[in-house]
Amino acid sequence: MKLLVTGGAGFIGANYVQHVLATYPDDEIVTFDLLTYAGNLANLEPVLDNPRHRFVRGDIADRAAVTAALGDGVDAIVNFAAESHVDRSIADAGVFLTTNVVGTQVLLDAARAHGVGRFLQVSTDEVYGSLGPTGAFSEETPLAPNSPYAASKAAADLLVRAAHHTHGVPALITRCSNNYGPYQFPEKLIPLFVTNALADQPLPLYGDGRQVRDWIHVEDHCRGVDLVLRQGRVGEVYNLGGGNERENLEVAKLILDTLGKPRSLIRHVSDRLGHDRRYAIDARKIERELGWTPRREFARGLDDTIEWYRAHRAWWEAVKSGAYRDYYERTYGQRLVGAAGVEGDRT
Ligand code: NAD
Ligand code: DAU
Repeated sequence: MKLLVTGGAGFIGANYVQHVLATYPDDEIVTFDLLTYAGNLANLEPVLDNPRHRFVRGDIADRAAVTAALGDGVDAIVNFAAESHVDRSIADAGVFLTTNVVGTQVLLDAARAHGVGRFLQVSTDEVYGSLGPTGAFSEETPLAPNSPYAASKAAADLLVRAAHHTHGVPALITRCSNNYGPYQFPEKLIPLFVTNALADQPLPLYGDGRQVRDWIHVEDHCRGVDLVLRQGRVGEVYNLGGGNERENLEVAKLILDTLGKPRSLIRHVSDRLGHDRRYAIDARKIERELGWTPRREFARGLDDTIEWYRAHRAWWEAVKSGAYRDYYERTYGQRLVGAAGVEGDRT
């Protein structure tokens, strides 16, 4: 297969590109990525010299650039490209609409014009909103996004659905829970807390820290995306989850304990606006139809991930310089000054 992988220089996309090139000796990939703050060519370093891989810098919302990248045509488009961080969408939603909504429509139009055989939209469980203490999101759960990020992803999902229904674009959607693993940008919970702990910096825990996320290792997500791309039924949505619900406070403690750092590094800071309380995924459809289940056990996967960040200090120190510092100050500066207390006081 020849694939166009958009957003392939980001966290999940880079893991996916490496997975496909290692798994299918005849596959070729064009990685198309704008290299925003979250995109990093260093994430693709192991495949940059691979003759079956080509990198093109460009914006998915730019029709001419997308058309040029498609060249003589591809068999499939896998769209990972997105603005992906909830906190940034709360501060400024504009670019989320341009990239996540307009960009997805541009890709759908290009797929139709070029007769692309498969179009996979990488979506998220956040389109379903938030759960109470019980239950799980199935593919039939109504869309009820709560953050501007989630709303932009839900809008993209509806455009994908419409392109399939109206124009017969052979599209599929995956909706996955929270990923962790190598190359994740340290604005997200696990890499932020791991790298702050390694640097003996405070871990800013929002609110009471009792929010629940269903953590899945990025390798399991990539395997699932690939299975849906190759064997899924077009027009369908497939949920993916880790079957591994944890409170944020528990994750913070696990990270500190693994690194031998004191729990007093935890700081309860003011909560995220509109913070979703709990996500959980019912993944029975993909298990039943495609035989997918997550393989990486959380304790082991988290250990490996912590070890990866310990061994790749130069990678995250470079990422955390420059513009990242301004972002960190804007997001956490006042919150950390006014922090409600340290977790060590409570446990
Ligand atoms: P990320 O922020 O690490 O990477 C996003 C990538 O997209 C970056 O390389 C960036 O440069 C690129 N990009 C951004 N705007 C672009 C544009 N206009 N044109 C071309 N490239 C652009 O994100 P991630 O965590 O790897 O997430 C990838 C996808 O998976 C996203 O669509 C996200 O919504 C979805 N998803 C993420 C998770 C998670 O836990 N991280 C879970 C479920 C779904
Ligand atoms: O569920 C899938 C989604 O998971 C993806 O679609 C998103 O792209 C991805 O960013 C992620 O969204 P979350 O908002 O769940 O992830 P984040 O890592 O930002 O936060 C995880 C939890 O940790 C959430 O309850 C907020 C909390 N948190 C996060 C940060 C960054 C903190 O307590 N402190 C923090 O500093």
